[in-house]
Amino acid sequence: MTVKPLLRALSGETVWPPPVWLMRQAGRYLPEYRAIREKFPDFVAMCVTPEAAAEVTLQPVRRFGMDAAILFSDILILPWALGWDLRFSHGEGPVLARWQSEHDTSRLNSALAPSRYAPVMETVRLVASALAPAQALIGFAGGPFTVACYMVEGGGSPDHAATRTAALADPEGFSGLVAALTEATIAYLAAQIEAGADVVMIFDSWAGVLPPSLFDRYVSQPTRRIVNGLRALGHKTPVIGFPRLAGSLVATYAGHTGVAAVGVDTGTSVRHVRRDLPSGIAIQGNLDPMALKVGGAALTREAAFVLDQLSGGPAIFNLGHGIVPQTPPQHVADLVTQLRSV
Ligand code: CP3
Repeated sequence: MTVKPLLRALSGETVWPPPVWLMRQAGRYLPEYRAIREKFPDFVAMCVTPEAAAEVTLQPVRRFGMDAAILFSDILILPWALGWDLRFSHGEGPVLARWQSEHDTSRLNSALAPSRYAPVMETVRLVASALAPAQALIGFAGGPFTVACYMVEGGGSPDHAATRTAALADPEGFSGLVAALTEATIAYLAAQIEAGADVVMIFDSWAGVLPPSLFDRYVSQPTRRIVNGLRALGHKTPVIGFPRLAGSLVATYAGHTGVAAVGVDTGTSVRHVRRDLPSGIAIQGNLDPMALKVGGAALTREAAFVLDQLSGGPAIFNLGHGIVPQTPPQHVADLVTQLRSV
């Protein structure tokens, strides 16, 4: 049986060269993605059309031969599947109903609506059956704190002032929201695993906007609860945690949550994280998406730097955040060639 390189790295083995996949590897930088996206005026509709979602999941893997596919969906499908209003407006990003107090938590359904989440599981099944034996399938969800950010702000935000205010001024109410999202996330990730995901990743993109005093309560504890919840359901599936912008708190997060790997963002030193990380936990990161956009000598140099930083322990090569739409696909091909030739 082929042991997938990504799963070897996640079990604590130093695989060299490291397995590679890229956040937002399915997306607008690919012409074949845009061709399918054009057929769906509504982004949510595309996320819940299994054939389309499976096809765009597979596009980058087919074109570049990454070691993993990541399910094409969105972190905001979870609150939507709990009945929360969500739409993606052109050029503006996501627009959601706004959470204002504990009362609004009761507007979330207690369970995911099958009509809204079952298509995602069908996508997982379609992709799992299409991948080569050495390629892994990564399922995912947002970190409960990050999903709560979008619900409190009603969309994206430059400073997350409303969320940070709620966390400080209404800790009971805000904790209730995070707890409800945490329980739903366990069910959602378990369903992805049962449908065929080899790995699941928790994207806590806004973890770092919290002060260290609140980080454990709203980021580490919910993550640990998700990992333990999956284990209690009998799933040994490795979890990758990505507490973006968490800086000096990354190693503590990794040690406390039970994740098999920690994602490191572009601005954080992999060497520093490695020094403080319990042994056996893999590091995933952290090439600057701008280096991938720029390409050429700058890309070669930056990728070599990241490889050097990752060496000496279990590692997964990735970006520090998602691919930007202006990235020429050839640069991704060049990067994969460089990584495979070390
Ligand atoms: O290839 C992959 O990485 C898998 C698919 C994926 C998407 N979103 C598709 C997507 C994943 C893993 C996500 C996660 C996600 N979604 C996060 C966490 C990671 C991060 O970027 O910090 C967040 C915060 C979201 C919420 C979200 N979705 C926003 C803020 C936006 C608008 C911004 C944008 O890039 O347009 C989205 C839309 C979105 N999700 C797109 C894609 C490919 C672009 C939509 C389009 O095609 O028009």
